[in-house]
Amino acid sequence: MPRFLHVVGARPNFMKIAPLLREMDGRGWDNTLVHTGQHYDEDMSASFFHDLDIRAPDVNLGVGSGTHATQTAAVLTGMERVLEDVRPDLLIVVGDVNSTIAAALAAVKLHIPVAHVEAGLRSGDRRMPEEINRILTDQLSALCLTPSRDGDENLLREGIGEDRIRFVGNIMIDSLHYSVHRADKAGTLARYGVSRGEYGLVTLHRPSNVDHAGTLSGILDALERIAEDLPLLFPAHPRTKARLEALGRPLQHVRLLDPFTYLEMVALLEGAAVVLTDSGGLQEESTALGVPCLTLRSTTERPITITQGTNVLVPDRSTAAILDAFASQRNAGEGATLPDGWDGRTAGRIADVFAEWLQGDRAV
Ligand code: UD1
Repeated sequence: MPRFLHVVGARPNFMKIAPLLREMDGRGWDNTLVHTGQHYDEDMSASFFHDLDIRAPDVNLGVGSGTHATQTAAVLTGMERVLEDVRPDLLIVVGDVNSTIAAALAAVKLHIPVAHVEAGLRSGDRRMPEEINRILTDQLSALCLTPSRDGDENLLREGIGEDRIRFVGNIMIDSLHYSVHRADKAGTLARYGVSRGEYGLVTLHRPSNVDHAGTLSGILDALERIAEDLPLLFPAHPRTKARLEALGRPLQHVRLLDPFTYLEMVALLEGAAVVLTDSGGLQEESTALGVPCLTLRSTTERPITITQGTNVLVPDRSTAAILDAFASQRNAGEGATLPDGWDGRTAGRIADVFAEWLQGDRAV
């Protein structure tokens, strides 16, 4: 029986592996799940396993936080051991976090082929660690599984052969569909004291937004102004929380909160009037749910959320520019359409690709 090794490490990985593991377990295949431990807090990791019904990992490398080199090296070393032990026919990595590239690199050096779920996304901004992780992981992968057609084009442009590329659709939407009816929408909104369509959501964690006091202050000024009229819920990533504490700026209107669980986020996103974020996943989820999204970044690796969806970039993070963008986008999102393959059935298509690939010559 073919043996598959799946790797997750950080929060945005969990919703990508959950539907695929469920699908592949359902086919009776031999699947081993490794958690690198890049994210380890209850609300950055365990709560997602619970909400998404992911079974406990077979192995946890416990790598934790550190500089990019430290973290990547710890995953590389830990994964080499696991890969030698399990000797899978295929390693499956998702997304663009440090755990993704490190696991892929460990595998190819052992001549174990890699499949990359969410391949081909490019922001063009090489100062983002995720962009480097995306480019390199795709170069290493025997199978590049893309969520949108622009991904195929990016890969072809980088010299990756057509035989390695499969358009499969967006697996995030599988998790969204799985959860949107299970989330307690009314209860969650009531618990946070907000009414449907009468509040906004904020998430920020990119170094480019939160690591410079001046940029962060300008963004907070804009958020405070918006929150005078529209309640804003701001579940903060640990990195952001630390920066906000260092800044020592009290927030009067914006409601700073601990990170949401996945089901809380789905419930609150579905009922939100607008989202202000620098997250990749929220750009997609807001497009899928038709909620206007302001992305506080100068680039996106998910341009389809702009051309087809509800997303708009806010490249200038000054207070005035954010307020302008907010004023013009708030009631937008009409006319948005669902991109091809964002239908909640991506996991099945990926499993079909694996089944077919196993019949072939399994090139690394
Ligand atoms: C990582 C990903 C990023 C993704 C984000 C989502 C990389 C390069 N970046 O960034 O693409 O959007 O996850 O959350 O892989 N921390 C905790 N508890 C945790 C995890 C982190 O307190 O469970 C704190 C630590 O102080 C740590 C910091 O957050 O140093 C950053 O964590 P790290 O995993 O290095 O990167 P993220 O910013 O989370």
